[in-house]
Order: sequence, then structure tokens, then C-alpha cells
Amino acid sequence: MRISIIGSGYVGLVTGACFAKLGNEVVCVDIDEGKVRKINNRTAPFYEKGLDDLLKEVNLRATTDIEEAIRSTDVTFICVGTPQGLMGEADLRHVDQACRDIGSVLKEKDNFHLVVVKSTVPPGTTEHRVRHILEEASKKKAYKDFGLAMNPEFLREGNAIEDFMNPDRIVIGVKDDKSKGILLELYKDFTCPKLIVSPTTAEMIKYASNAFLAIKISFINEIGNLCKALGIDVYEVAKGIGLDKRIGRHFLRAGIGFGGSCFPKDVKALINKARELFYHPIILNAALEVNETQPYKLVDLLEKKAGNLRGKDVTVLGLAFKPNTDDVREAPSIKIVNALLNKGAKVHVYDPKAMENFKRLFGDRIDYCSSAKEAVSKSKYVLIVTEWNEFKDKELYKGKYVFDGRRIEEAKELAEYYEGVCW
Ligand code: UDX
Repeated sequence: MRISIIGSGYVGLVTGACFAKLGNEVVCVDIDEGKVRKINNRTAPFYEKGLDDLLKEVNLRATTDIEEAIRSTDVTFICVGTPQGLMGEADLRHVDQACRDIGSVLKEKDNFHLVVVKSTVPPGTTEHRVRHILEEASKKKAYKDFGLAMNPEFLREGNAIEDFMNPDRIVIGVKDDKSKGILLELYKDFTCPKLIVSPTTAEMIKYASNAFLAIKISFINEIGNLCKALGIDVYEVAKGIGLDKRIGRHFLRAGIGFGGSCFPKDVKALINKARELFYHPIILNAALEVNETQPYKLVDLLEKKAGNLRGKDVTVLGLAFKPNTDDVREAPSIKIVNALLNKGAKVHVYDPKAMENFKRLFGDRIDYCSSAKEAVSKSKYVLIVTEWNEFKDKELYKGKYVFDGRRIEEAKELAEYYEGVCW
């Protein structure tokens, strides 16, 4: 199939490259010329495992010319960002703009074109807002003159290509048979369950998935906080409950909480949607509340042991919101480093991939080290904030006071003192 992708961020570019790998002809659109140039030179504009290699292998081009991209393709995926607005709502301005652009091209286009929303948007957006803008701009009717669908992504950063190629399920939100047929054809090589639902249901499935996972993490963190007070190991508890098939063992790693571009933003957007419906979502709010304070527990532990932090050297290992990414959006590291600075500590940091992104936030207020070894050499106190593989070297922690936010077992062995945030 001939596919255009609007928005070449994590989701758009991974989706485009994977569709190309499956034998489709793909054009990725972005307003950022630098990004487009990089993609055409076969390098990803951000770090994602395996993406550079995939781009070198597949039939994919990038352009800033959205009109040409839509004219020369039959299916368009909207993959633009839906950042957090001032009230926690999903800011849909990029989706709106993409729809206006697509609609104005559809006006002049004769063949049937399918528009698919892949961006995470609140329930009702595709059927009401997106449809309305497309119809206005194209002067055509959705589900008749052009196709419209919602097809959420469930890609984890750092694992996105693998997640795309081996999904647990594919959710197809459609109302008309033609759109459904095209998407089923596009995904025909996938053997996982394919759920055909309405676009609004598809949107809710995406939000509910992320919200459930966020709640699961906050739940185990709350149990972890209790375990800590009781002298119990929450990881044994997690194992014990995770063996119950109704609960499952995944997403029960207690620690300093979730970050990233999805969980915090999507839970807030769902809370905001609930507010519009005059519903007070108790559990969603609680998940955020637990997550809000979880990173500070690591600083509390440090203070209890080290006393006043003013003038003391403290090393932070890991800045990315999770391993295998350079992304620091909503990362617990931000709260932790801010708290350390506010308390007057001298902060030394190291992360294998996220240093540049962190520098943009903290500038010269902290010391950026070129290796984990160098970073730990600067302080007696070491905080583990991201569970990168290279932090599993027990030698790093020899003689150190280690405060672990992510359960690195190896850190315990040679440390002078070791304490976990929830265990
Ligand atoms: C998530 C969803 O997994 C994905 O399906 C969706 O499309 C986007 O959001 P991502 O944000 O890339 O993906 O990361 P994920 O691996 O899910 O981890 C999110 C956060 O939760 C990280 O900060 C991680 O450290 C934390 N986490 C995860 C825990 O604290 N404990 C766990 O048990 C699991």
C-alpha cells in the first residue's frame, strides 16, 4: 500500500519504518526540515533501538510537503503529538492542523483515501472533532467519500520496533466496511487478535491500557511503601501476587514511579475528560498522587542517612525515565535532582544516553560525568535512578552509600550501605 504518515516522532517514524519493512511504500511528513533531512539520510532524529538500521533497509522517504505526500498515497496515518495542555487536557492543535491539511487535499482527490488517527486522543475525538474538520475542509462525507479510522499504538520506547512487529493485539476503530477492509489488509500478516470496535472505543482502549498500567505501578509502589515500613521485601510480595494469573507478574516493579511521555500525560488527559463529564475519577487521581511523591522517597532516605545535604556530593546514576532511551520527559530524575539542588547538594550525574536532553533542563547547575565510574568516584552517596544494564556492575558501588530507586540487586554486594526506596 502507499502510506503517508503525518508526524515523524517516535510513533510516526517507527510506524512508517515498520510498515515499509512489511513491503509498503511509505512517505513520512514533518514540518521540521532538519528531521526530514536526517530521515532521508537514513538516520533517526532520536534514539530508538534498531531504528537506524531499519531506516537503512526499507523503502521510506520523508518530506515537508504534506500535500504531495497525501496526493501520492492512499492511506494517511495521523501520528502527531498530543501534548499536555494547561489543565492536563490533551492539546489537539496538531491533530486539528493535520486534519485541515489532509482535508484540503482530499477535496481535490478522486480516489478513496483512508485517514487513520494513531495519535493518542480522548474518546470521541475521531468521530466528532476529526471527522468534522476533515468534512469541512474536504467538502466530502466521511465513511462514504473517504475512510476514517482510529488505530491506537501500544509501543514502548526502546522496544518500539519489536512491539510493532509482535503486538499483543491490534485495535481497529472503524465504522465503515471499506476502511475496515483496508486496515485488515494492511495488518494481514499479523497473527495476534484483531479487535474491530468503534473509533471512540478504540480511543478509550488506549487510555484505559495506559491508565491501568500506571495504576498497577502506583499500586505496587503503595504496597512497597507499606512493606518498607514493615521490613518486608515488596519484590517477594510482587512475585507472590503476580503468580495469580488474574493479576499477572508484569508492571509490578516498585520504585520511584513512572515517567515518560505517555503515562503521566494520558492519565491526566483521561482525568480531564472525566471532569468534562462531571465524573470524579478517584482511582486515576490516586495513581497520580502516589506517583507524584514517589521520587522524593529516595531523597528522604538519603537525608535520613547523610543528614543535611548542604555542600555534600551526591551522585545520580541514570536520568532517562527508563533504560534504553534518551527520553527524560517526566522522568523521576528531574524531581530528584531538583530536590538535591534545593537542599544545597553538589550533584554529579551520568546516563549512557540522556545527558544531552538533561543538559537542556539543568544547564551548568550540575556536574555531567563521562562514565558511571567517574560519577561514583565523586561522591560517597550514590542514587540509582534508572536501571541501565551498565549500572549492574557491583564494583561501582564498592564502599559507597547506595540508595536504590530501581532495585539493582548487584549494588548490594559491595556497598558500604544499601537501601531501596520500597524495600
Ligand atoms: C508506555 C506503554 O507501555 C506503551 O504501551 C504506550 O504506548 C506508551 O507508554 P513507555 O512510556 O515507553 O510505554 O514505557 P514503559 O516501559 O511502559 O514504562 C513507563 C514507566 O513506568 C517508566 O518510567 C518505568 O520505569 C515505569 N515502570 C514500569 C515502573 O516503575 N515499574 C514497572 O513495573 C514498570
